[in-house]
Amino acid sequence: MYLLELGGEDDAFAAREAESAASGVRRIAPGLAVSRAIVPERVRGLAYTHRASDLLGRGDADVASAAAVLEAASIDREGSVAVRATDVHGSSGVSTEQAERKLGQILVDRGFTVDLDDPDHVLRAVFSEGGIETGGSLAAGETGDLFAAEPDSSVEDDVSVCALGWLVAESVRDFGTRAPTDKPFFQPGSMDPLLARAVANVAGARPGATVLDPMCGTGGVLVEAGLVGADVIGTDAQAKMAAGARENLRHFLESDAPSPTGVERGSWHVGRGDATRLALADDAVDGVVFDAPYGRQSKIDTHRLEDLVAGALAEAERVAPRAVVIADRSWASEARAAGWELEAAFERRVHRSLTRYVLVLERRR
Ligand SMILES: C[S@@+](CC[C@H](N)C(=O)[O-])C[C@H]1O[C@@H](n2cnc3c(N)ncnc32)[C@H](O)[C@@H]1O
Repeated sequence: MYLLELGGEDDAFAAREAESAASGVRRIAPGLAVSRAIVPERVRGLAYTHRASDLLGRGDADVASAAAVLEAASIDREGSVAVRATDVHGSSGVSTEQAERKLGQILVDRGFTVDLDDPDHVLRAVFSEGGIETGGSLAAGETGDLFAAEPDSSVEDDVSVCALGWLVAESVRDFGTRAPTDKPFFQPGSMDPLLARAVANVAGARPGATVLDPMCGTGGVLVEAGLVGADVIGTDAQAKMAAGARENLRHFLESDAPSPTGVERGSWHVGRGDATRLALADDAVDGVVFDAPYGRQSKIDTHRLEDLVAGALAEAERVAPRAVVIADRSWASEARAAGWELEAAFERRVHRSLTRYVLVLERRR
């Protein structure tokens, strides 16, 4: 079993993204999940998971319980160690300093040397307390009636958890270097790189996969998908956007610098085009992601917004078995009408007047 330390404010969405790098993901406490297996290279490319560790054991969220877990655990490692403790959102009130000292001493008593600067092994000790839904799935039900999902059997349970594990993989936290305003081409409405990476991962971005954004704007999603190794294709109705996306993709995917995630950057292709009439064969790509225009903000010359989204959903269903749609409203009924099944739905509050909806769609046939 592995311990996943989630980031961001929406654990359900973080866990859904983690499924692109892990199997059998299950949330156990605020900010924490476990999984049966992980792919360490993919964990490096996750946006909303910070670390994955080989789980040693679990107890209650206090130092004595963490110590008991460690004392009882069998340890098949050699070399130097460091203990790093975290109290998720300050929820448990545990002194992480005291936890690190106590757990470090147990390891020393068992014959390990401590090296805080360059240890051979890092023991993560994570404490978390709070409410978590249990008994339900991570699917559409969590977001309520809006998506007319299956009845949600989840109940909120209060949990108190400490989990110990040997660190295996950490995600690369370089998203700040790709803030929309720092990119060579910027337009208002560009997607934040963290969300862009997460939706790219959920759509299946990885080496060997091809991801399409048919309304690519500045290319935010395509950049993130390309950095985790996917080959990417973009279209946009506006020539200015297609040219700008090319500039951004050239900058980030043709860099000579070593790839931050350790995988080779994917290839890219961007052209001017209409998302409702794609010049692509049936099943040409593995996943589609698009950030639908927000009506008031984006230029839509030829379509009513409803027709544009319905048309884009139908074309996406023709060219890919999976899609992720981001919008300022739920397009769930349009998605169903276009032949999609709603696999999961999430609401992400951006600020007071803007909520973003994320739909994860699987082809029905
Ligand atoms: C919300 S923006 C996408 C932003 C993008 N995710 C980013 O990070 O920059 C929506 C884009 O859809 C494009 N668009 C509008 N109608 C379109 C159509 N029929 N086909 C393709 N693109 C279209 C707009 O030009 C705009 O760039």
